Amino acid sequence: MNDAAVQPLSARRREEVLATPGFGDVFSDHMVTMRWSAEMGWHDAKVGPLDAMSLHPATMALHYGQTIFEGMKAFWRANGQRALFRPTDHARRFNRSARRLTMPTLPEQHFVAALEALLRVDGDWVPRPRGHSLYLRPFMIAAETGLGLRPAEEYLFAVIGTPARPASVEPNPMRLWAAPEYIRAAPGGTGAAKCGGNYGGAFVAQRQAAANDCDEVVWLDARERRFIEEAGGCNLFFVESTADGPRLNTPPLSGTLLAGITRDSILRLARSLGLPVVQQPVTLDEWEQGCRDGRIAETFACGTARSIVPVGHVVGAHRDWPVGDGVAGPVTSRLRAAMLDIHHGRASDEFGWMRLVETDGQ
Ligand code: PLP
Ligand code: COI
Repeated sequence: MNDAAVQPLSARRREEVLATPGFGDVFSDHMVTMRWSAEMGWHDAKVGPLDAMSLHPATMALHYGQTIFEGMKAFWRANGQRALFRPTDHARRFNRSARRLTMPTLPEQHFVAALEALLRVDGDWVPRPRGHSLYLRPFMIAAETGLGLRPAEEYLFAVIGTPARPASVEPNPMRLWAAPEYIRAAPGGTGAAKCGGNYGGAFVAQRQAAANDCDEVVWLDARERRFIEEAGGCNLFFVESTADGPRLNTPPLSGTLLAGITRDSILRLARSLGLPVVQQPVTLDEWEQGCRDGRIAETFACGTARSIVPVGHVVGAHRDWPVGDGVAGPVTSRLRAAMLDIHHGRASDEFGWMRLVETDGQ
């Protein structure tokens, strides 16, 4: 149900929502907005009630696709504090997306201050159970009115929040659809940016995945359609069996996939847990063969919204194969637990990833 019309929600309704959050269907009570113009730079920063926006039909974002966004999370901690996960790293990626889309960059401290401001007033919206979070969606759109084919000279930045649950406490393994018909990104394109068009262009393949009883798409490289890049809305890791024990491998950042903050966190976390990591290209054939002969023991997907989820099965146009035992393997489960412990303050934050925010809530 979309409660936007009756925001702010009563405390009772909010508690009901928090007891069974979905993803992106109910929003917290406030929003942050800020404007940019060529003349004034960033100005007019506001924290206000969540409200509909009125847009002229010739608003440039609606026509030429200058829209970028981030996805990040705030977690509840045992002592009642709330904390943002790696906000400065999300700010940096937001600015990389802005540069690629010829949009203005936002100073990192303004980006983080906007997130903190929303979390401060909507602290009561952070769900408490392990793995649950308040998902924060900062975004920017070209707000100038006009149909001239050029970058806009006015922009709107905003942050909204939605309580989110994990796929499940022990998530069901994903079934991935790997077919070469559609591609997500090509060299020189926008694949490394978090811009709206990348997602709109992917839905046709997502539909195909669903029609084949799969949860998501595996994206292959544009040139040869052999190399694995990432999956829909998440990066991929392979757990390889070597004579020295398990080793993690994830496709290198080729410029056509998103540099996931979760991906980077896993690379660092794994090293600190003593797990070797490499970033080497893997083809679809190598993935299948590796799963069949045991060289690839596990595969998992990772991203902010999904967290860390095992891949149990891969389906293609003329083939399909199970991954490992088809359930979460030990390395996937260990990394998932270690990450959740950091999120919820149950393990020391050795990387300095969590940013505590004093909130107005209980
Ligand atoms: N790849 C794509 C296309 C995504 O949309 C996401 C989600 O943000 C990811 C990867 C994972 O990135 P992150 O871990 O920063 O959420
Ligand atoms: C995220 O994980 O934050 C994403 O952006 C994936 C999807 C919900 C767009």
